[in-house]
Amino acid sequence: MSRIHDALKRAEQERATSMGGQLEPALEQPELQPVGMPEHAHMQTAVMPPIQGSSFSYESLLARCPVSNWNPDTRTMLFFQEDENRKGAEEFRTLRSRLYQIREKLPLKRLMVTSALPKEGKSFVAANLAQVMVRQHGRRVLVIDADLRSPGMHRHLGASQTPGLSEYLMGECDEFAIMQRGPMDNLFFVPAGRQATGAPELLANGRLKLFLQRVEPLFDWIILDTPPVIPVADSTLLANFCEGVLMVVRSNSTPSDLARRAREEFQDKLLLGVVLNGIPADQLPKSRYYYGEAVSSPA
Ligand SMILES: Nc1ncnc2c1ncn2[C@@H]1O[C@H](COP(=O)(O)OP(=O)(O)OP(=O)(O)O)[C@@H](O)[C@H]1O
Ligand SMILES: [Mg+2]
Repeated sequence: MSRIHDALKRAEQERATSMGGQLEPALEQPELQPVGMPEHAHMQTAVMPPIQGSSFSYESLLARCPVSNWNPDTRTMLFFQEDENRKGAEEFRTLRSRLYQIREKLPLKRLMVTSALPKEGKSFVAANLAQVMVRQHGRRVLVIDADLRSPGMHRHLGASQTPGLSEYLMGECDEFAIMQRGPMDNLFFVPAGRQATGAPELLANGRLKLFLQRVEPLFDWIILDTPPVIPVADSTLLANFCEGVLMVVRSNSTPSDLARRAREEFQDKLLLGVVLNGIPADQLPKSRYYYGEAVSSPA
């Protein structure tokens, strides 16, 4: 464990020097206010019962969820404005095509985005991928912040952090209560909820499996934003609920040994490919339409 710690520390230091501060989050991170969970809260027996039968449909979801007032970070959320040619947008369309190609051969709806280390662009990729998916007419997408330890997706979307997944996993809310509908048609979001201790136990308590089974018929894609692989075990656990894993590697930043180690956590059949994030514009490949293992999204 301490070797991992050392490696992480080294990686952080290397990154800070090599990027000259470029990787600082674009937004001020609000101070996190961990809300202590009662010990063994996930074992409580009085849980909110699932919504029953025919009430669990897309129509009832629309009726139950009013459009929320999101305030997306327009610097990094690429599809909330009408500009089709924003830097990086084309790479996300390429990624979308690639995923549809894979889906012709494999069952693929539940997809997770992860990376070796923190701050490599997992939430950036997951959120933009969800947006580009719903840009296709009639496609319905649910994006879930499954990083219960360090939730961040709500900041990218400018959405509320609660109630969310942790409240559902603790049995405090039903499915529809944690789903938010934003300003983009057919895009739904489950925030992480209040910060939780005991994340691995919560994720494995059976409620997440139930949630995914129930919402799956309502959506074309379900995208899970997850914690980094090297420091914590949650992503490996979350992969059990998914049919595919996208691994984000930050250009000129992720140490290759750690990227390899993270990759080894997933069976080959689950690993769909690597998204190379933050390629400087002058290093982008000449042709934008290439379908290799890696799909880039420029900084
Ligand atoms: N390609 C990019 N271009 C510009 N900014 C980016 C890019 N990728 C990520 N960022 C910015 O870098 C910061 C970290 O990205 P993000 O939050 O997506 O990382 P993360 O891997 O989800 O981090 P964490 O492990 O903390 O959840 C954010 O401020 C994000 O907006
Ligand atoms: Mg994140």
